[in-house]
Amino acid sequence: PKVLVIHGPNLNMLGKREPEIYGHTTLDEINASLKNLGRTLNIDVETFQSNHEGVIVEKIQKAMGTCNGIVINPAAYTHTSVAIRDALLLLDVPIIEIHLSNIYKREPFRHKSMIADIATAQISGFGVQGYTMALEGAEKIISGKR
Ligand code: DQA
Repeated sequence: PKVLVIHGPNLNMLGKREPEIYGHTTLDEINASLKNLGRTLNIDVETFQSNHEGVIVEKIQKAMGTCNGIVINPAAYTHTSVAIRDALLLLDVPIIEIHLSNIYKREPFRHKSMIADIATAQISGFGVQGYTMALEGAEKIISGKR
């Protein structure tokens, strides 16, 4: 099985970006640990990051029929993007929404997620650990263990 992990805008700056909120781990480190975990779980993990909404939309469109699950941190687009929501609706696979921070504990504009109600599950506030949990959760759902 294959899981596509999508990281939205500014997540390429992890490590340098507001470390008190997002921690010190870099995106490369997160991706490497997900690929590693994927080998253990027998999941082929592809990772992708873009700062551009349309590029993310096109990546999701191309995922149609080619992956068994999506793990996505849409970052700021979480709160704004009907386009990413609509693209995800094209897919017939489990979608795990993940945020490093607890978005419900932060500014009111972060409390609304445009994808929460179409996601299979949401993880928010566990820091980088959330990515591991998201992939493990995706694997369980895909393999029917949940
Ligand atoms: C984020 C939360 C968003 O509100 C923010 O715009 C991000 C990261 C998170 O992982 O906590 O860029 O998705």
